[in-house]
Amino acid sequence: MSIKQIIAIASAKGGVGKSTICANLAMQFSRNYKVGILDADIYGPNQQIIFDVANQKPKVKTIGGKKIFIPIEVNNILLNSMGFVIESDKAAMWRGPMLSGAIKQLKNLTQWGNLDYLFVDMPPGTGDAYLTVAADIKPDYALLITSMSKLAVHDTKKSKAMFDRLKIPVLGLIDNMSYSICTNTNELKNDFVPMNLEQEIGCSVLGSIPRHHDLIDFNLSKKNNFFEPIYNELIKLL
Ligand SMILES: Nc1ncnc2c1ncn2[C@@H]1O[C@H](COP(=O)(O)OP(=O)(O)O)[C@@H](O)[C@H]1O
Ligand SMILES: [Mg+2]
Repeated sequence: MSIKQIIAIASAKGGVGKSTICANLAMQFSRNYKVGILDADIYGPNQQIIFDVANQKPKVKTIGGKKIFIPIEVNNILLNSMGFVIESDKAAMWRGPMLSGAIKQLKNLTQWGNLDYLFVDMPPGTGDAYLTVAADIKPDYALLITSMSKLAVHDTKKSKAMFDRLKIPVLGLIDNMSYSICTNTNELKNDFVPMNLEQEIGCSVLGSIPRHHDLIDFNLSKKNNFFEPIYNELIKLL
């Protein structure tokens, strides 16, 4: 069992599109690579909903006295999620070491097989608990998601500083939902006062994803190519 690269998809803020981008990137990568997703967002695990497998549970096997999770396979992606193993109403009570321990176990006790890439949908935050989670998962790289909202940018700077402190290289950032495309005229409309995110946050912008109805419901039958340019950029860096 080996995982070549672990990529943490992170943002300090919730609601900026981490889970959406994590799922879409995983789909894009899975065309050419063996890909897994670990949904580590203990407070709001969403991947099982995005991939429409919320009614499934990973099977548990005992190997050498250890309980091993068999991940759910969906669209050629292996998925395990905190959402499968803890009840949502209990998640909010979990704190620091317990939280980090659970995520680490979920990662280490899942039978991922041989993966090229494991994408980790990280919980939002920058606090102590978050630092432990980020350190324990030992990602090879982090990818930051933000919009041009002043608040998101302010918090993304903190995320960048945290990954720098942990010496986890930040591949860059994805600007999500800073503009939209008018369905009738195809005109672009900025939803925030445009800013230079590269200068502001101090890492390169790998691409911009518009606010788009195809991405609201993760509808696999709708094929947009928003993620292909980002995939092409990422693959050069990995
Ligand atoms: N590019 C986009 N266009 C339209 N809706 C989006 C886009 N990205 C995310 N969303 C929507 O915004 C909300 C928050 O996205 P989500 O991926 O759950 O963020 P996070 O994981 O950072 O909390 C969801 O309802 C999602 O469907
Ligand atoms: Mg999420």
